[in-house]
Amino acid sequence: MALPTPETFIPDLTVSAPGRINLIGEHTDYNMGYVLPAAVDKTIVFRFRRRPDVFRASFYSQMNQKGFTVSLDAISRSAQSWENYLLGVLAELSKRTDRVQGFDCEIESSLPAGSGLSSSAALECGLAFGLNELFGLGLTPWDLIALSRDAEHHFVGMQCGIMDQFASVMGREGHAMLLDCRSLEYSYHPLKLHPYKLVLLNSHVSHSLADSEYNLRRAQCEEGLSIIRQRFPVAGTLREVSPEMLLACQGSLSTVLYNRCAYVVSENERVLAAVDALEQGDLQRLGALFYSSHEGLRKQYEVSCPELDFLVDYTKKIPGVLGSRMMGGGFGGCTLNLVHEKDAEGFVGEITTAYQQQFGLQLTSFEGVPSSGVAVVGKKDA
Ligand code: GLA
Repeated sequence: MALPTPETFIPDLTVSAPGRINLIGEHTDYNMGYVLPAAVDKTIVFRFRRRPDVFRASFYSQMNQKGFTVSLDAISRSAQSWENYLLGVLAELSKRTDRVQGFDCEIESSLPAGSGLSSSAALECGLAFGLNELFGLGLTPWDLIALSRDAEHHFVGMQCGIMDQFASVMGREGHAMLLDCRSLEYSYHPLKLHPYKLVLLNSHVSHSLADSEYNLRRAQCEEGLSIIRQRFPVAGTLREVSPEMLLACQGSLSTVLYNRCAYVVSENERVLAAVDALEQGDLQRLGALFYSSHEGLRKQYEVSCPELDFLVDYTKKIPGVLGSRMMGGGFGGCTLNLVHEKDAEGFVGEITTAYQQQFGLQLTSFEGVPSSGVAVVGKKDA
């Protein structure tokens, strides 16, 4: 069957779904804690066209220069990992509605895959949002967030939290969002960083253990919590564990489990401290929190890698940098840096050279501009 190509494709609907950055609050979402993400101005664009045949959908990815078709009444996992983000959304939608009909979808991205900006959430949320619009499914933003997260659990096998999908759907220009992952309450916080800005450095490494180690961290947190609960049954999640409670349980926890839990307990405190620092305009403090978050991720949670550690450590030698940390699940991707505007260019130049010398890899950099969430950017008149 012929796949849609750019030449033949006149869309009924065009949707743009952003990736995300996370100021602070890493690996806290699935522990029902706090996160402080923002959507970014790097997006995946989806062009949709209705098809006359009701049960068929086709996808074409400009990034992969590949496409595939699927029967909407027989959705199953694919051997191609990128297809599973899309198939997972179709499968989750089919559990909630029977109103999705045949369509063609062409996908184009300015989001570097594997860079820790959650191109996966953008892929899931953009498809879910687009089909919701195209077929008038009546799903709420929270439905779209949850079903996109479920798609990743069930089809991709990554037991992710809710932060990335939340940010991709709920992002607001110029703002970060404090999300309480237990109550799902959230608030928008203007990112007033002037004369500083957020500079992302893409390490261009993406270690293959990322998914398996991610699921292992999640399991370790659950195991640690179950031991803590023997003494403090009141603690339903790691979120309810105070530093004092954790200390009281230290003797019953292995060093690894203690470190994992200690990281999560401290990171939750750092998120709230970061919101306070932002509100006070105390950027020095915000930067210091970035550094301590990275230390925790490196030493207690053990999800960093030599390349990311090098990039963070190197910033301590460069003037004008207030803070730096790895961002996202870990084992590669980007670091997030709070850098004075006047020093940003010199910073990028110097660290790029040093990184090249150390690892033989080319860094890429871009500014983290907080942007709006998934949206319709074009619609053919009915
Ligand atoms: C990935 C997951 C998120 C979150 C981060 C770490 O991006 O998808 O749910 O757990 O890692 O903070």
